[in-house]
Amino acid sequence: MDTKAEQAAPPGPALHLSKSIVMVGLMGAGKSRIGRELATRLNYDFIDADDEIINAAGCSISDIFERYGEDAFRDVEMKVITRLLDGPPRIIATGGGAFINESVRQKIATSGISIWLKADLDVLVERTARRTGRPLLNKGDPKTIIEDLMEQRYPIYASANIAVYSRDVPIDKTVDEVEAALENFLIAGKQQKVVDQ
Ligand code: S3P
Repeated sequence: MDTKAEQAAPPGPALHLSKSIVMVGLMGAGKSRIGRELATRLNYDFIDADDEIINAAGCSISDIFERYGEDAFRDVEMKVITRLLDGPPRIIATGGGAFINESVRQKIATSGISIWLKADLDVLVERTARRTGRPLLNKGDPKTIIEDLMEQRYPIYASANIAVYSRDVPIDKTVDEVEAALENFLIAGKQQKVVDQ
């Protein structure tokens, strides 16, 4: 027999979205992991823009950079994200450079809700070391590269609608914080800034 909680559970998405949620932030910030978990909780589809690019190109991101160059990658990235944002509301994880492109940023501003996952240098270095396939980090010392990217990109990510700290805590805790910030944003309609630890 159904429990009371099951009988009372409302059908469909837990939170009504009229626009897609777009996860932004540096490599290793947890955009895909946290985005996927958020999608499960909110009962929306999750889509990873980098995976869409890989499917469209039929080769890895490293291969795209190597064969056609970064500009070509950015071009495809913009087309893919525009297409995704023109579709039904869902949770979209973007590659770290997407939000830095002004055209992409404008498209996200009109057709999406951006969530920046802000993380400290050591966390990003540790997490990005766990997997290869990030061509920007092969150009030298990853820690120095990430540090430079933080300097260049953090002021731009800071314009996202919502910012949440991504740190080494159980994923559920970060997703709780993202969900709460999203609810506040939808109610208040104004930017939800990160609370520094
Ligand atoms: C990039 C981040 C990568 C990928 C590409 C470029 C960047 O995605 O899009 O290697 O410019 O920061 P992740 O942030 O998912 O690693």
